[in-house]
Amino acid sequence: MNLPGREYDITVGRGLRQKAGEIFRLDRKVMILTDDGVPAEYAEAVLKCSKEAKILTLPMGEDTKSFASLELILTEMLSMNMTRQDCLVAVGGGVIGDLGGFAAACYMRGIDFYNMPTTLLSMVDSSIGGKTAINLGGAKNTVGAFHQPKAVLIDADCLATLDDRQKRCGIAEIIKMAATSNEKLFEKLEKSTFIDILADIEDIILSALEIKRAVVEEDEHEGGLRRILNFGHTIGHCIEASSSFYHGESVALGMLPMCRDSVKERLLGIYERIGLPTEYDADIDEAMKLVSHDKKSVEGGVWAVLCPEVGSFEIKKMKVPELCLLAKRTFA
Ligand code: GLY
Repeated sequence: MNLPGREYDITVGRGLRQKAGEIFRLDRKVMILTDDGVPAEYAEAVLKCSKEAKILTLPMGEDTKSFASLELILTEMLSMNMTRQDCLVAVGGGVIGDLGGFAAACYMRGIDFYNMPTTLLSMVDSSIGGKTAINLGGAKNTVGAFHQPKAVLIDADCLATLDDRQKRCGIAEIIKMAATSNEKLFEKLEKSTFIDILADIEDIILSALEIKRAVVEEDEHEGGLRRILNFGHTIGHCIEASSSFYHGESVALGMLPMCRDSVKERLLGIYERIGLPTEYDADIDEAMKLVSHDKKSVEGGVWAVLCPEVGSFEIKKMKVPELCLLAKRTFA
C-alpha cells in the first residue's frame, strides 16, 4: 500500500503465520487480539514469534465491537505496561480487525497495528485500507478512526478451517470489486465453480486486493472513489438487518438492484453456480425502512454505487424513495 509516509506490505501466501516474526516486528511487547471463533492455534503461532506477548480472546460476534471490549483491551495493554513503541496484532475476521485497529489507534494516541485476517471476507476487504471502528448501540462503525496497519499477513491456509458459507460470503465481496473495477476477474469468476475459486484462491485474493489497494491509494478517506467499495452495501445492510442472511450474502443481493439488467443476469449466473442467494423473499419495503440509518446517508439522499456495465461504475446521490423503488423492482 503506497500511502505517503505510511506505506506497508500486504503479504499473501501459505504457511505464513509461522513466519509472522519475519513480516511483523514482534521483538517488543505484543497484544494479540482474537476471538473464540478463531482456531486458537492462529494466535498461538503469532505468540511463538513474539518476544513478550499476551493473547486476549474475546467472544465471537458483532456485539464484541463495543466500548466494553475497547476498554478491556486498553486496560490489558496498560497492565502489560505497553508503551507507544509496542504493538497490537489482530488475528481474526472483520470484527477483530476493526476493533483491534481502533484500540491500536487509541492507545497512547496510536501504536503500531498488524493485521492477520483469518476469514476470506476480511482478507479481501477490511484487513487493508485503515478503517477501524466499534459500534455505538445498534449503529455499526459509528465510533472509529482511520489507522493504517504497519503490515498485513494473509495466510491462505487459515481458510482450511472456515466454513463454506463464510467462504461464499468472502467471494461475494470479491465479486463486488470485480463487477465495478475488473472485467477480467469478473469473467474468470463467471467461468468458475466454487471449487475452482478455492483452488485458485491466492491469485484471486491478490486480484481483489489490487483493486482495493488502488482505490485506497487514490481516496483513503472516502471523499469520492472509495465509495465504490460500498457497492451493494446500502440495500445489503437493510437486508442483513432484517433477515438471517450473512453480510456477504446480503451484499450479493444488495448489488442486484444497482445493476443494469444485463449485469444482473451475469451476477445471478455466478450466484447460482457458487451457491449465493439469488432472491430476497421477505418484505423489501420493510427492510428498506432501515436505509436512513446508513452511514452513507447524506443530506438529500444516499451515495449510491451503480454498475451499468461489468468493469464500470457510477457514483451518485440518490433519494431514498428512488433507491427503495430499485429494491422493490428487483425483489417484489
Ligand atoms: N470496506 C470498505 C472500505 O474499506 O472502504
